[in-house]
Amino acid sequence: MKRIAVLTSGGDASGMNAAIRSVVRVGYVRGVEIIGVYYGYRGLLTKDFHPLLPRDVSGILERGGTILRTSRVPDFKLTENQEKAIKNMKEEGIEGLIVIGGNGSQSGNLALFEKGFPTIGIASTIDNDLWGTDYTIGFDTAVNTAINAIDKIRDAAVSHGRTFIVEVMGREAGFIALDAGLAGGADFILVPEVKFDIKKITDNMREAFKKRKMHHLIVCAEGAIHARDLEKKIKEYMPNVETRVSVLGYIQRGGAPTRFDRIIASEFGQHAVDALLSGEKGKLVGIKDNKITLIPLKDAITKQKTIDKSLYKLAEEVSV
Ligand code: ADP
Ligand code: F6P
Ligand code: MG
Repeated sequence: MKRIAVLTSGGDASGMNAAIRSVVRVGYVRGVEIIGVYYGYRGLLTKDFHPLLPRDVSGILERGGTILRTSRVPDFKLTENQEKAIKNMKEEGIEGLIVIGGNGSQSGNLALFEKGFPTIGIASTIDNDLWGTDYTIGFDTAVNTAINAIDKIRDAAVSHGRTFIVEVMGREAGFIALDAGLAGGADFILVPEVKFDIKKITDNMREAFKKRKMHHLIVCAEGAIHARDLEKKIKEYMPNVETRVSVLGYIQRGGAPTRFDRIIASEFGQHAVDALLSGEKGKLVGIKDNKITLIPLKDAITKQKTIDKSLYKLAEEVSV
């Protein structure tokens, strides 16, 4: 294999640049030409192809976002577009593709593989919702950003004796909420994976008030309930409680990647290039039990990754 393309797709995540840099430089060391595809799957359709050399990826290791840009292309689900993407790559002599992204992006990747094109995925999304990998690039940075925010919000919660509801990202998954909630000392953590009972939460809050604990911190994943809706529901049970809402939003997706995200991104990039060169395809590069691993793309996107229930229980126990 002499020419490999790389793209980033879906929601951006800190560490994507570190993965691009690794792909480009390891590719160079292995004697392979790396072609950067701009704007994800859109760039495959418009032939937004640009060769990348080691110096083109200088100074990006520590930068959030993606220098290759990203996009969401709903029409990439259409067979005709997937075929066009493969045709475009073949016309330019591209023999393999590396897709850096989350579960949606890896579904597109699987479609290209199933149409006969050699592809490898790199697990990258702040949501951490790809099966078979313990972590995805961007998750650690997002969680640390959320923890920093929670630490600061706690000051006002304690000083004023208020109930703060902090909403974190995770449209379908509660990984950020669970880790940030546990590490940030939340009193309650609401995730899409676990049913919650507002009455029970407010009963607990009442008991705490009796013991002179006047503040509460609730961390909710956007996919469990939106903070404003939760606030309204709490008020139905406790009209006099003083509440405040903080929706963390996009600060979780950007900024300099943590040490962990930089390192796994560099490793994932190297393994993705080497996987393609050794004839692997239709696989996702991830990390399991501290070892870099290749997961069949089909499993990564069809099997359901669940939150660690023992961590959830621990969070409940340490918040009594
Ligand atoms: P993420 O990769 O972060 O989960 P999305 O779910 O938005 O992000 O997916 C990114 C892009 O991947 C979509 O806009 C679409 O172009 C492509 N994609 C998602 N699902 C599929 C699918 N089933 N088949 C083909 N392409 C898909
Ligand atoms: O990248 C994943 C994610 O952060 C989800 O948790 C969130 O719901 C979604 O992206 C929102 O992103 P956008 O506004 O770019 O669609
Ligand atoms: Mg996703």
